[in-house]
Amino acid sequence: MDRPPPPAPAPSSAPTPLLDRRLVIVTGKGGTGKTTIAAALALAASRAGKRVLAAETGPDEHLARLLAPGSPPVGYLGRELLPGLRVMRIDPFEALSEYLGLQIGAPRLVRRMLSNRAFHQLMAASPGWRELITLGKLWHLEQMTDGQGRPSWDLIVVDAPATGHGVAFLNVPSVVASAVRSGPLRRHSQAVEDLLKDPARTLLLPVTLPEELPTRETTELVKRLRDEAGIAIDRVVVNCIVPQPFPTGLAELDAALARLSPQLRCGELPSAGALTHCASFLRGRHDLSLTHIDLVGELTGLPLVHLPFLAAGVTGPDTLEILSRGLVAAEAYAR
Ligand SMILES: Nc1ncnc2c1ncn2[C@@H]1O[C@H](COP(=O)(O)OP(=O)(O)OP(=O)(O)O)[C@@H](O)[C@H]1O
Ligand SMILES: [Mg+2]
Repeated sequence: MDRPPPPAPAPSSAPTPLLDRRLVIVTGKGGTGKTTIAAALALAASRAGKRVLAAETGPDEHLARLLAPGSPPVGYLGRELLPGLRVMRIDPFEALSEYLGLQIGAPRLVRRMLSNRAFHQLMAASPGWRELITLGKLWHLEQMTDGQGRPSWDLIVVDAPATGHGVAFLNVPSVVASAVRSGPLRRHSQAVEDLLKDPARTLLLPVTLPEELPTRETTELVKRLRDEAGIAIDRVVVNCIVPQPFPTGLAELDAALARLSPQLRCGELPSAGALTHCASFLRGRHDLSLTHIDLVGELTGLPLVHLPFLAAGVTGPDTLEILSRGLVAAEAYAR
């Protein structure tokens, strides 16, 4: 792949540890493992004694299903699925209804207005409002306090939309803040933008795979959000890294097979030539993934968190735990 010039290096001041942020927004190309990593991070933080809110922004409840398989939907109000870990799904219409109810002070009138079909059609055609209202809800959650004035949530983990949408998603407040000169919309957009651009509170956590297209998209994401939009990104998660192709003690199996005569057969096994072909395919795939891992580091200039491919799948908290440990263990390296 063509190599664009590497983005400017990250600021040199020591970044805030992952679990000490207030808002971690997990994003990446579709299917790279955003939901899985958001769930693993939320689990790691709750196991570390933090009060955690995990928020899903898509139409489905994958996050809740992963953290508590078989549990009923959590919806907009959310539910505590594990000790110290609440999960919710931010539905923009519900968030808008809540916001307007608070602003106008007539929840029934607002509900009537929002259930109107023409209003839905109008909103569906208006760009940016979903993003703004979803981010506004996140800002509100970050500001919430308990009875003693402490933040309600130590950490909010967001399972954000896939990269293409993710970039637009995070740019909306700054676009609105620069387009609207005064009034509540301007104040709210500015407050959301301030939260997003505060590196002590907010971190964008990109998730990628050791493959060409995700590598390319991640590089672009880092460039646009860290270098151009000013949102903190201090590490990249490389998910689904496959282990060495051959077991310990047989690391050079492909080379050993290649030294045999290609016609040689051992019992019912295929010829040494066919086995060499299979082994070199596995070696080639593995080497290619290592090349992409190196490229992500080189092109973004960021430390990488390596997470393994779990061949048995990621089915719930037990398997997530392996990825949680990897995320937290990588903390020292990423710092
Ligand atoms: N480390 C891993 N090892 C094995 N399988 C994984 C791993 N990480 C994620 N997966 C699997 O990869 C698939 C995609 O993961 P996930 O749903 O988290 O991706 P996503 O980026 O949220 O996708 P989408 O863009 O559709 O929201 C799922 O089946 C998940 O179980
Ligand atoms: Mg997802």
